Amino acid sequence: MSLSLSQNFDLTNHNSFQLRGNSAYARAIVDEAELPQLFEVAEELGVPVRILGGGSNVILSEQYDGITAIMSSRGRSLADGENGQFIVEASAGENWHELVTWTVEQGLWGLENLAGIPGTVGAAPIQNIGAYGVELSDLFESLVAFDRTERRFVSMDGPSCRFAYRQSLFKQEPGRYVVTSVRLKVSQSRGPSLGYRDLSALGPFRSPSEVMQAVLRLRASKLPDWRILGNAGSFFHNPVLSADAGQAFTLDFPNAPAFPQTDGSIKLSAGWLIEQAGLKGYRRGAVGVFERHALVLVNHGGATCKDILELSDFIMTSVRDKFGITLGREPELF
Ligand code: EPU
Repeated sequence: MSLSLSQNFDLTNHNSFQLRGNSAYARAIVDEAELPQLFEVAEELGVPVRILGGGSNVILSEQYDGITAIMSSRGRSLADGENGQFIVEASAGENWHELVTWTVEQGLWGLENLAGIPGTVGAAPIQNIGAYGVELSDLFESLVAFDRTERRFVSMDGPSCRFAYRQSLFKQEPGRYVVTSVRLKVSQSRGPSLGYRDLSALGPFRSPSEVMQAVLRLRASKLPDWRILGNAGSFFHNPVLSADAGQAFTLDFPNAPAFPQTDGSIKLSAGWLIEQAGLKGYRRGAVGVFERHALVLVNHGGATCKDILELSDFIMTSVRDKFGITLGREPELF
């Protein structure tokens, strides 16, 4: 066993919620070629392995009796693609926002609406990150992952990843794949994606950089900076109702924001539901609901996983009692 592991590793500064947590073993994976050996070591020790990126979408448990592999591989490149497009390729441990900034500074369109999202490149496909009218899947070319079942590296295109709203194969088969690099399509000529009204209202935009600056301003006006107030972004998915259920809901609650989807279903706003349940700015000990955006739960300092789960259970019950809608959690219980 040549792969060395850190023991009793404190992860409090490895999760954007800043929840207290410890891992029996940890290893920063700077070279993905180590992964097969890491899983062998885990088998020898008889412990599980979990994969951590930037820790921006996890609810960290206080104690994990296994190995936390922290994806830390770096590297990014740009290559010519088809039809005047470029393909940007980045290793899993690259910081997502730095990658966005790097492409935007070269005048390339594509990733600018996704600026400011915390976390790593390798985590981006897991929940198909999205913001301001664009999802990762819109720009996705392919990725490479280590398949723990087949014990080999595999390349996957978009359809194989089964992307949907905050969904992917990687959520459906948790623990099977470790994403090691991602390839995305960017372009010199695409122009802005202005499907999100509050963003288009800030235009016109002449460059991807102008869009990125507007996105960063919008984010700063709505979302707390996790370095100041621990959080994991949106804590719940926006609920998607069937066309019939959605229509019935909007008759009962005509003021509710409701967004018809291309398949006829209707997406509601979880933030609105929580606010209407009277919980915007609600505080419960060390944790609370952010006062400027009800979809974001925050750690006021010293919170644990248990505090967050108790608060989220209370929110879910309150929304269910008032609207008959069950919210689904977005961050992974880790
Ligand atoms: N709203 C309220 N009260 C609130 C918050 C929101 O009434 O406290 C209403 C707003 O007025 C608006 C609607 O809810 O009509 C939607 O709000 P917003 O545009 O802020 O977006 P969201 O649906 O709450 C989603 C993503 C965010 C992403 C934004 C912008 C999910 C779960 N969240 O939030 O993603 O940044 O759209 O595209 O889909 C994340 O996933 O961590 C995240 C921050």
